[in-house]
Amino acid sequence: MQDAIDALRGRGLSRIESAATADELEAARIDLLGRKGEVTALLRGLKDVPADERPAAGAALNRLKLELTDAFAARERDLRGAGEAVTGLDLTLPGAAPVPLGTAHPLLTVLEEICDIFYGLGYDRGDGPEVELDYYNFTALNFPDDHPARDIQDTFFLSDKTLLRTQTSPVQVRVMEQVTPPLAYVFPGRVYRNENADASHSSEFFQIEGLCVDREISLVDLRQTVDAFVERFFGAGFETRFRPHFFPFTEPSVEVDMQCVKCGGKGCGVCGQTGWLEIMGAGMVHPRVFAAAGYDEDAYTGFAFGMGIDRIAMLKYGVDDIRLLYENDLRFLNQFRGVL
Ligand code: PHE
Repeated sequence: MQDAIDALRGRGLSRIESAATADELEAARIDLLGRKGEVTALLRGLKDVPADERPAAGAALNRLKLELTDAFAARERDLRGAGEAVTGLDLTLPGAAPVPLGTAHPLLTVLEEICDIFYGLGYDRGDGPEVELDYYNFTALNFPDDHPARDIQDTFFLSDKTLLRTQTSPVQVRVMEQVTPPLAYVFPGRVYRNENADASHSSEFFQIEGLCVDREISLVDLRQTVDAFVERFFGAGFETRFRPHFFPFTEPSVEVDMQCVKCGGKGCGVCGQTGWLEIMGAGMVHPRVFAAAGYDEDAYTGFAFGMGIDRIAMLKYGVDDIRLLYENDLRFLNQFRGVL
C-alpha cells in the first residue's frame, strides 16, 4: 500500500506541476481526486489492507490527499498570476481601467445650439434628403439649365437626375409642398460640394437653412431675425449689415456680415483687417420658388437664409482649419470635453 501511495504522490505532483492551463489542471483534479479518481480508488482499497496496517495506511492516504489539494491550490494561483482565468469570470468586478466618456462633437453641439435659438423664436425643425433630385436642388430654386453651379465641377452628380445636395435650400421647396403658411422652419444638415480640401473648404460641411413665410413678411423681419440670432449666439454688441448679392432663389438677395467676433470691428487677422465677417446668405423668397412649391405668389412673401454651421463653430471656438472638424483626432476633440 505504501508503495502505491508513494508512486501516486510522484505522478500526481508532477501532473499538477505540468498543467499549463486551467482546463488541464481541472482534468488532473478529476483524474486524481474525483469520485472515480486514483486517490479515491486507493481509499476504497483500504478495506483489503490487513487490519493492523490499516490505520497507518489510512493516515498516509489522508496526507497524500491534503498534499495534492495544496498542490492544486498553489498551481491554480500560479496560473491565474500568469493571466489564466482559472475560475469563472466575475462580471460584477469593476473594470481595471476607467472607461472614458465620449462627448458631443463640437459641430453637432453648435447645430443644436442654433436650433434652440430658433425654437425660441417660434421656429419648427424640418429635414430633407442628402441624396437629392436635381429638381429640388436646382430647377425648383430657379437655377437656369446652364447655371454654372450645376457644373460637375461643383456638384457631385449621382445620375442625370440625382445628386448630393449642394445646399440645404432644396428643403425649402419640400417643406412648402407639405405646409401652408404661415410657417417658420429651420432645417440643418450635411451638404456636399466638389471642392479640394484646404483650411476653409471641405467637400462636405453643414448648413442650416431658415424659411419664414406669411402674408406680409419683409426684409425688416429678416433683419430683426438675424440680429436676434447674432445676439443670442455670440452675445450682445455685434452689429450686422446686409450687402446686396445674387441668389437665383431670392430677390432681393443679400450677404449678411457681423462685426468680427475677435476684434469687435477694429480689423484683425480673423476678419482680414475689414472688421466684418460674412455669416450667411439670405433674401426674400423668389416668386418663382413659391410657384414651384404651388403657393399663390401674389398672396405670400417670405424670407430665407442659409448659414454654414462649420464656419459659425469655427468663429465661436477660434478653430482656424475646417479639416479639424472632420478628422476626428481625439487630441482636437478632447479640448471640447466639458466645454460645450
Ligand atoms: N443656399 C445658399 C448657399 O448655399 C445660401 C442661401 C440660403 C441664400 C437661403 C439665400 C437664401 O450659398
